[in-house]
Amino acid sequence: MRHVIIACDFKDKQELDTFLETLQNEKPYLKIGMEIFYKEGPQLVKELKRKGYKIFLDLKLHDIPTTVKKAMKNLGSLGADIINIHAAGGIKMMQYAKEGLRESGSSALLIAVTQLTSISEEILHNELLISSSIEETVKQYAINAKNAGLDGVVCSPLEAPIIKRIGLLSVTPGIRFSDGAANDQVRIATPEYAKELGSDFIVVGRSITQAENPYEAYKRCVKEFS
Ligand code: C5P
Repeated sequence: MRHVIIACDFKDKQELDTFLETLQNEKPYLKIGMEIFYKEGPQLVKELKRKGYKIFLDLKLHDIPTTVKKAMKNLGSLGADIINIHAAGGIKMMQYAKEGLRESGSSALLIAVTQLTSISEEILHNELLISSSIEETVKQYAINAKNAGLDGVVCSPLEAPIIKRIGLLSVTPGIRFSDGAANDQVRIATPEYAKELGSDFIVVGRSITQAENPYEAYKRCVKEFS
């Protein structure tokens, strides 16, 4: 089952509520990230769940395995439907994250960030002293995520076919309508093309949140992606 996730990159609850009002009675998947989470706290997630929204909690955990496990136990109790961690934390950290999540009673999908799109090959080689290519590390991190028992990864829609072959779900940002502006995104796909490539979830921010009519933009996205 494919889903459109709206990236709620808002500074606080007031901005988020104003946006949600434009969606009429729709209760879509919302991506709640660090910015608004650190402002409003776990209560926001509980409240949105009570109102009937599905939540992708995008906090990208990355620490020693035990700390991540304990943190995940707390996050799991909030009721989120998808939660993510950094694959760079290693297989044991990912396994512990999953254990923490299950111990909380949550059945959320646990997904991994492979390489951030802000990391270039130059940064990888010259700052982080990793000699493999971005592509090789993305593939290896995805295999590690699979081996740790995770459900999927965040990746570009263009990488969805490889991720599918590894046996993972793909959650893909970088989505634009064929007639929309790319803004700062580089490797982009339309909702329809993301579907063809095998994305399971698309994460769409500005194409919906900054649209003249967010409701129409959301419905268009759902239509093109289903
Ligand atoms: O506005 P836009 O559709 O570009 O927003 C995409 C969302 O996905 C943002 O919240 C952005 O931080 C997130 N994201 C991304 N690329 C990644 C990972 C996350 O654009 N590789």
